[in-house]
Amino acid sequence: MTPILTVEQLEARAPRVPLAHLPTPLDEAPRLAAALAPDNGQRGPRILIKRDDLTGLAFGGNKTRKLEYLIGAALHERCKAVITTGAAQSNHARQTAAAAAKVGLEAYLVLRPPIEGLGQGNLLIDELVGAHVILCASRDEASARIQSLAEELRDAGRPAYVIPVGGSTPVGALGYAQCVVELQEQLAERGVEPAGVYFASSSAGTQAGMLAGARGCGVAWSIWGVAVEPNGDEFRREIAELATQTASLAGPGARFEVADVLLETGFAGPAYGVYTPEADAALRLLARTEAILLDPVYTAKAMAGLIGHIRAGRYGPDDTVVFIHTGGTPALFAYADQISRTR
Ligand SMILES: Cc1ncc(COP(=O)(O)O)c(C=O)c1O
Repeated sequence: MTPILTVEQLEARAPRVPLAHLPTPLDEAPRLAAALAPDNGQRGPRILIKRDDLTGLAFGGNKTRKLEYLIGAALHERCKAVITTGAAQSNHARQTAAAAAKVGLEAYLVLRPPIEGLGQGNLLIDELVGAHVILCASRDEASARIQSLAEELRDAGRPAYVIPVGGSTPVGALGYAQCVVELQEQLAERGVEPAGVYFASSSAGTQAGMLAGARGCGVAWSIWGVAVEPNGDEFRREIAELATQTASLAGPGARFEVADVLLETGFAGPAYGVYTPEADAALRLLARTEAILLDPVYTAKAMAGLIGHIRAGRYGPDDTVVFIHTGGTPALFAYADQISRTR
C-alpha cells in the first residue's frame, strides 16, 4: 500500500511550533496564463500560484515552514538563542530573527557577502525584530564567528541552536514535506494533477522536503527546482542526499538519487544575487498581470524558469503547472536601484 504522509505523523517525529498562517492560498493566475499562451491561438497551461510568500511571519516566505520545525527543535533542546547565517539580504535570516522574537529566543545573524541594501529590506527587519546582526567579510570569517559565538553563549549558560544556511537540515526540510501534504489536499479539492511544480532552489531544503513529501504522499509530480546561482550535479547530489535524510526522519524512508532531482540551471545568471534580464521580465510580467510581487534574487529567476519551460512548449492547454512563491519580497527594496527604471 502507498504510504500516506500526514501532518500528525510529521509532528510525532519532530516537535513543531506553529509560526505560519497555513494553509497558504493556492491562487489561479489566469492573466499570466493568457500572457504566456502560444501565438497560434491555442490556450497555454493553467497556472496556479502557491502563496508561500504569505506565510505571515514578518513578510513571510518559505523559511517560515522550515522554522516551525527548527524552532521546535531549539525549544525542545532548551536553547536560549539561535544563530544562523546567510547573505546580508538573507530572507532566511530575517524569518529566523522574527521566529526567535515571537517565541522569546535571542537571535544572532552572522551575515556575509553579498552585502546589499544596508539598513533596507531584510536588514531593516532584522534590526526591528531585535536580532544581533554581525556582518562578516567572507564565508570563512562567518563560519569561524558562528563557532566562537556558539561557544561563548554555551559558556554563558545561554546555549544556542545553530541553524545552517537556509535552514536546510532534515529537520527544516520537514516543513516542505508538510507543504506537499497541504498542496496535495488543495489540488485534490480542485481535481487537479499538476504536470509540473516549480520554485527557486538554493540551499537544497525546499526541494529535498518536496521530494521526500511527494514520495511519502505517493504523488508522482515533476518537482522542478530552478537554480539561482551557477551549479549542477554537485547540487543535485546534495538535494538527493538531504531528501533521503528527510524521508528517513519523516517516516518509512526512501532513497533518492541524482537522477530523481529535476534542476533547471539555465536561468541562474552569472552569480548569486545578480539580477538578470530574464528575471526582470518575469518580475514585471507577474506584477502587471496578477499584481503578485516577486523578489530579484530567488523567485524572479524561478518564474523566469517556469516561463522558459512554458514558452518552449513543454505544457499544453490541458496541463496545470504550480509555481510555489517562496517569498523574499523585502529584497525588492534593497535592490530598488537595480530594479527601478524611474530614477
Ligand atoms: C525567497 C526564497 N526563495 C527560495 C529560496 C530557496 O530555498 P532553499 O534554500 O530551501 O533551496 C530561498 C532561500 O533562501 C528564499 O529566500
